[in-house]
Amino acid sequence: MKEVLAAAGVPSARFGVFDDAHSAIRFLDELPGTVVVKTDGLAAGKGVLVTDDRDEAAADIRHKLSGEAFGDAGRRVVIEEGLAGEECSLHVLVDGVSAEPMAPARDYKRLLDGDAGPNTGGMGAVSPVASVDDALVGTVMDRAVLPTLAELRRRGIDYRGVLYAGVMITGEGPSVLEFNVRLGDPEAEVVLPRLADDPFDLFVAVASGTMSGPPRFSPDAAVTVVLAAQGYPRSPALGARIRGLGLHGQLEDHLDGVFVFHAGTRRDEDGFVVAGGRVLSVTALGPTVGIARARAYEAVSTISFDGLQVRHDIAAGEMAPA
Ligand code: GLY
Repeated sequence: MKEVLAAAGVPSARFGVFDDAHSAIRFLDELPGTVVVKTDGLAAGKGVLVTDDRDEAAADIRHKLSGEAFGDAGRRVVIEEGLAGEECSLHVLVDGVSAEPMAPARDYKRLLDGDAGPNTGGMGAVSPVASVDDALVGTVMDRAVLPTLAELRRRGIDYRGVLYAGVMITGEGPSVLEFNVRLGDPEAEVVLPRLADDPFDLFVAVASGTMSGPPRFSPDAAVTVVLAAQGYPRSPALGARIRGLGLHGQLEDHLDGVFVFHAGTRRDEDGFVVAGGRVLSVTALGPTVGIARARAYEAVSTISFDGLQVRHDIAAGEMAPA
């Protein structure tokens, strides 16, 4: 990905790719401040270490390259300079002819309140994002997304579908952290519920190159809170019985505007049990972020299982001052 971005002239953090620990650790010394150590393969968000501690970064590099942590997905690491700023996730619909942004979202990647603890695949998300207005979305499109799509076309790739841009809004403007060729999780759980168009029609248009303008979104806000298993992200404990869900997997005690998305659950004759690290994503819609957030947490309080982990500050920084 980094090579495509460089060819497209898209701003992104300084980086190196290594499959031997010695060169990787030498590169660490060239980077000031925070560093990011990622696996080059897919590791469900768990392969990313963000740290200021050189010894921790060096130990993580050795661990990943040994193959013990993520098998083949971890045998090559990408080391990046950590960027400071606010993160934003932007899904873009691409139909081969045009590209249209969806509503911006923000996810909360750290396990614990206050952005502490290890990186995860995402502990919650909110949409809209107060600091990401239409002008900023336009800048991300112009500086990051459209040049990347042009570079893909130059390489003979007719990309159609969802392009997910993870962007850091720095003092110098947006810088790309990652592109994914899929919806984000848990960002999808706040963006799709706000979609005002029929998703089937929209995705048919995307696939067939007939998109006729930007997708429309409800003015409602959406907040999702992830319920994670004990031990997540390192070693999730599976099998705990989930209480508070009805027969169809939604809240036993219905709340308006609340959806429960299942990520790591298994159904048995008595209901649902934990079957993955990120177990449920509880989304609520509301006329403001504050109301959506209060509904989401009210819904979360009715669900329980042994060892449940949840952040209490999802979207707390996104509420308009009273
Ligand atoms: N939430 C980050 C991702 O889906 O990659």
